[in-house]
Amino acid sequence: MVSSAAERKKGEILLTVSKMKKTFGPVTALNDVDLELKRGDVLGLIGENGSGKSTISSIIAGMQKADHGDMTFLGKKWEPQSMLDALEKGIGMIVQESGTIAGVTVSENIFLGEIDQFSKFGLVSRKKMNEAADSVLRSIGVENVSGNTMMMSLDFQARKLIEIAKVINKDPEVLIVDETTTALSQEGRKVLYNIVDRYRNENRAVVFISHDLDEIMEVCDTLTVLRDGNMIRTFEKSEFDPDAIRTSMIGREMQGDYYRSDFTPSWDEAVSMKVSGVTVNGHLHGIDLEVHSGEILGIGGLSHCGMHTLGKVMFGAVTPDKGSVVIKDGTEVRSEVVAMKNKLGYVSKDRDNESLILTASVKDNIAVAGMEQYAINNFLILDGREKKYVDEQIGSLSVKCSNRNQTVQTLSGGNKQKVVFGKWVGRGSEILILDCPTRGVDIGVKQAMYQLMVRLKREGKSIIMISEELPELIGMSDRLVIMKDGRITKEFLRSPDLSDAEIIGYMI
Ligand SMILES: Nc1ncnc2c1ncn2[C@@H]1O[C@H](COP(=O)(O)OP(=O)(O)O)[C@@H](O)[C@H]1O
Ligand SMILES: [Mg+2]
Repeated sequence: MVSSAAERKKGEILLTVSKMKKTFGPVTALNDVDLELKRGDVLGLIGENGSGKSTISSIIAGMQKADHGDMTFLGKKWEPQSMLDALEKGIGMIVQESGTIAGVTVSENIFLGEIDQFSKFGLVSRKKMNEAADSVLRSIGVENVSGNTMMMSLDFQARKLIEIAKVINKDPEVLIVDETTTALSQEGRKVLYNIVDRYRNENRAVVFISHDLDEIMEVCDTLTVLRDGNMIRTFEKSEFDPDAIRTSMIGREMQGDYYRSDFTPSWDEAVSMKVSGVTVNGHLHGIDLEVHSGEILGIGGLSHCGMHTLGKVMFGAVTPDKGSVVIKDGTEVRSEVVAMKNKLGYVSKDRDNESLILTASVKDNIAVAGMEQYAINNFLILDGREKKYVDEQIGSLSVKCSNRNQTVQTLSGGNKQKVVFGKWVGRGSEILILDCPTRGVDIGVKQAMYQLMVRLKREGKSIIMISEELPELIGMSDRLVIMKDGRITKEFLRSPDLSDAEIIGYMI
């Protein structure tokens, strides 16, 4: 333990960062950034994707080194050698990307690097280790996961909670939370908010990074805005004002045309996809739905209403127990291979695990789906043509990367999402199924995606947007279908009068 409770004085300076610089090739990720963190403070970091939030936090947490600049922690020079070193000395970070290992148990993850404490004569007592893991989990309010569970069998949210437990177990003075809440449900968020509150009350400190402006204003005491690696402004709680914060994030006034500006529902007569009687036992019960060319069809509901499964059925990734999905020319979509051959595209909700090969380059990720666009007879791949194709996609979506060979892992969340879009749009998908396409991306990237959707609609493509966010469903859809317990409960047409309140009634 770094300090005892009595030694923690509210307002005392805990951590300073001065003139920090970091570049990656031509990209300046941080440009002379200064930061100060006081005891009892929950500091929010906000900024568009690629503004440098993860870079600065990962340098503070010992994951990488700055090019220039100094840091102090508890009045001394701060030069962590690794994340583990930082954590041992009092600064822990919950990383944006999954930080757990899939092939082992929950308790092995929590006690990674300190399993020795459970061993005697070289034998590890799994029982003790599992019990200790259970008690760490219960102490932060996680009830339904136990130490001896295999990580692999857990969902995204549970894995994230394990990661939180792992860091909290080390009792750090400074906790950095990098975009963790997007991966969590309401219940998981509560676990994290409770920890944040405890850290504030104990006069430790938290750096909290989120895309959700409402959330960050609620959780944080002060807010620092980063833009293109520059520190733009720090807001005190009394100065929190969504418009002012947004404006400083994007450096220009936010216009009202964030979503589509027209309110007339429109689509072509042609039915591009017909879903008939689709049933997936336990998830979907006899879904009938038609999608038209030139239509943005929104599908909304609570997260377990079946809409995510429906998206997978539409793309052939889940085979229904009953019913069918048939496209324009009569082809039945029975598998992903059929879907891809027939110009269907699918952006998954869990984009890291399903849509991207994280360890491969931007080029390889974009190229893999679009091969027929640049290969001759689907066989001969000409390097020059492939590069040109990839660069076109990077350019048209303005993916922020140093070059096409950068690994996707190192991109910010929104830029990863653009690569996913690039994959599908580039190959000329006629029907795009988007499952929570704007989840975890900031306003700038969102706006670019909405514009792209409108462009595709105008080109006569069909867009199916599955979303848990009502404002974007209302803002973008020609037609909005609401689901509950595996059934469609209501259909709304685009209208300026459509309200959240009216829709929510059909969801719960
Ligand atoms: N390892 C890396 N290699 C190359 N570029 C990187 C790397 N890490 C971050 N970047 C780039 O630095 C910029 C800042 O990224 P990041 O700190 O992840 O942004 P944020 O977390 O605010 O979304 C981005 O343009 C990103 O692509
Ligand atoms: Mg980030």
